[in-house]
Amino acid sequence: MVSATLLRAAAALALPFFVSATPTYRVKRNDTNPEWADNLLQESMTWMDMFYDAEAGYLYSLSAQALTHETRASAWYAAGLLARNEGNDAEEAVKIVENVISGQHKNESSQWYGDYQIYPEEPTVGTKQYPPNIYNSWDPNWRGFVGTTLIIMLEEFPELIPQDTQDRMMESLHNATVGDSYRVGGVDDDNLYPSYSNPALMRAFMSGWVGRRTNEANMTSAGETYATEILDLFNRANTLSEFNSGTYAGVSLYALTLWAKYMDESSVMGQNGARMIKETWSSLASLYNANLKNVAGPWDRSYGFDMNRYLSIIALHMWTLVGKDKAPINAKPYAMGHKDDFAIGPLVAILAPFHNTLISAEALSSLQTFPGTHSVKTSAFSPPWDTYPRNITAWLSPKLTIGAESFSENVIGGPAKNPNSFNPAIAQWGRADGTVGWFTLHPQVMKLDAVASENVLELTYPDGNETSTFEFLIGTNSKNGKRDVASWEDVEGVKVTVNGTVDSAYEVTFSGLVGGAGDPINDFEFWNFTYSMPQGSKETPKVRLQFELVE
Ligand SMILES: *[C@@H]1O[C@H](CO)[C@@H](O)[C@H](O)[C@H]1NC(C)=O
Ligand SMILES: *[C@@H]1O[C@H](CO)[C@@H](O)[C@H](O)[C@H]1NC(C)=O
Ligand SMILES: *[C@@H]1O[C@H](CO)[C@@H](O)[C@H](O)[C@H]1NC(C)=O
Ligand SMILES: *[C@@H]1O[C@H](CO)[C@@H](O)[C@H](O)[C@H]1NC(C)=O
Ligand SMILES: *[C@@H]1O[C@H](CO)[C@@H](O)[C@H](O)[C@H]1NC(C)=O
Ligand SMILES: *[C@@H]1O[C@H](CO)[C@@H](O)[C@H](O)[C@H]1NC(C)=O
Ligand SMILES: *[C@@H]1O[C@H](CO)[C@@H](O)[C@H](O)[C@H]1NC(C)=O
Ligand SMILES: *[C@@H]1O[C@H](CO)[C@@H](O)[C@H](O)[C@H]1NC(C)=O
Repeated sequence: MVSATLLRAAAALALPFFVSATPTYRVKRNDTNPEWADNLLQESMTWMDMFYDAEAGYLYSLSAQALTHETRASAWYAAGLLARNEGNDAEEAVKIVENVISGQHKNESSQWYGDYQIYPEEPTVGTKQYPPNIYNSWDPNWRGFVGTTLIIMLEEFPELIPQDTQDRMMESLHNATVGDSYRVGGVDDDNLYPSYSNPALMRAFMSGWVGRRTNEANMTSAGETYATEILDLFNRANTLSEFNSGTYAGVSLYALTLWAKYMDESSVMGQNGARMIKETWSSLASLYNANLKNVAGPWDRSYGFDMNRYLSIIALHMWTLVGKDKAPINAKPYAMGHKDDFAIGPLVAILAPFHNTLISAEALSSLQTFPGTHSVKTSAFSPPWDTYPRNITAWLSPKLTIGAESFSENVIGGPAKNPNSFNPAIAQWGRADGTVGWFTLHPQVMKLDAVASENVLELTYPDGNETSTFEFLIGTNSKNGKRDVASWEDVEGVKVTVNGTVDSAYEVTFSGLVGGAGDPINDFEFWNFTYSMPQGSKETPKVRLQFELVE
């Protein structure tokens, strides 16, 4: 059943295409095995089956939160049920869809109108006891996450969905699109600018698709306008504003696939989606080290520091492109950090037969085999946060990669204002047992000059002063390595030499699961090497780190 579905999706590729300047983007490639997408579908569904509450018609929370349920993962699971379509899968999918729609916010005057509940047991958002708290009691991006999932169901599996449910899905999508149009970056605590790539791409698509289906010219043109703004940012350097993010580049590629697959040449999205996917993969592949199974830094938003240990959505795409064994995915994906994102597996699998035709042969090859030592220079731009585009440099060698970005922003921690996910300067290296060591600068400043070159990372705080510190977070040693770390000599697999205007004495603390000076970040324990400036220093804070592999 499944393979038939995926093959049917693949058959759609035979359609003629019209991207005149670059028709080769849509040439069918045969070097990705369709079984890989099928494996991803089956494995992610088998895992979610364990969480399915058929009586409720919802998935239990994947984080096992005392038997509460979750809306978004339920919608993703429902799409997977339609793709699998065994036994009563399709009936259960329809049940879930009806539930998700009945839990959609219905008050047109509220900021969260047309959004989907986080979970069905939640109190009414906007009551005295349950105030609206954006990204907490309601998440504006869920209009896009759930809405685009409904669209995939309508596009791919209409024959499995009764007409009255399809009608409600259209009404739900219409409401979600109207609600999404309330979002304006900088207003009412919202942060949706065209530079917030992943939800921006979903918004433009949903507006364009729903507008066309319902003959709402305003919606259609709003989608085109927004898509054009995103495109203008992209075309600067062929990069997404939300750059090289293990999780969100995966979502952006998902959304761009919707642009390329479901919008025709009358739309700026249909005209550009395929090219943007190709360029985004070329950029990711240029930073990928297949020996370490990691993308080099910098990462604008990351939920982990070693892709072999946390589940990234990029890795799910790679699963369909190079197979699970070669992708940065553990044999047991649900044991990895950030494992809940495994729930998007069905969507990635459903779109893979189309999406996987759009990556260049060169990029695909780099995802399989490290092409050799090289440097990368590019940039990305996120207005209104960036004063100037961020300048990105990376140096990749077979077992050591260094990547960094200079930025000048009006916030700390990147556009998401989250120092735990914004990683502007990173080094990663292979260790004797095959595991990966990592180093990241914990960002505390609005301005950083950071340059990666052969074996070297140079960091400067142009606006720093004698109170500035550099907090370097370093991953724990391998399982059989030294448990205790008090200096650079104790860090496994790499020799690090530091000089600069900082005091050469540094402090080392540990942030562990159940002890130490602080808590892990993104599920990762780390050693914290903090350098300060000499007291009374008038110099610009500057540090240069030289990394040498130790076999
Ligand atoms: C690609 O795959 C299709 C279907 O599996 C097959 O018909 C076709 O001959 C293949 N093309 C090449 C160039 O191998
Ligand atoms: C709808 O939302 C508005 C704005 O938040 C609020 O004033 C109004 O009371 C809500 N209506 C209902 C029926 O909850
Ligand atoms: C759509 O919103 C309207 C209010 O504008 C509401 O009456 C209707 O029930 C909503 N439809 C769905 C499917 O939530
Ligand atoms: C469409 O946009 C026009 C101009 O902004 C506005 O006057 C009209 O009310 C809108 N129509 C709908 C259905 O939103
Ligand atoms: C990036 O480089 C350009 C060109 O050299 C420069 O104008 C810009 O200020 C740099 N950006 C940052 C954030 O340093
Ligand atoms: C040093 O920088 C900190 C952080 O930006 C600032 O609060 C402080 O006022 C500065 N001190 C001096 C002497 O400029
Ligand atoms: C650090 O050492 C390098 C190489 O010895 C030297 O070129 C550089 O000037 C030094 N940097 C600082 C900030 O002292
Ligand atoms: C790192 O250590 C310094 C000095 O002890 C501390 O101020 C800082 O909060 C720590 N950083 C993190 C991310 O834990």
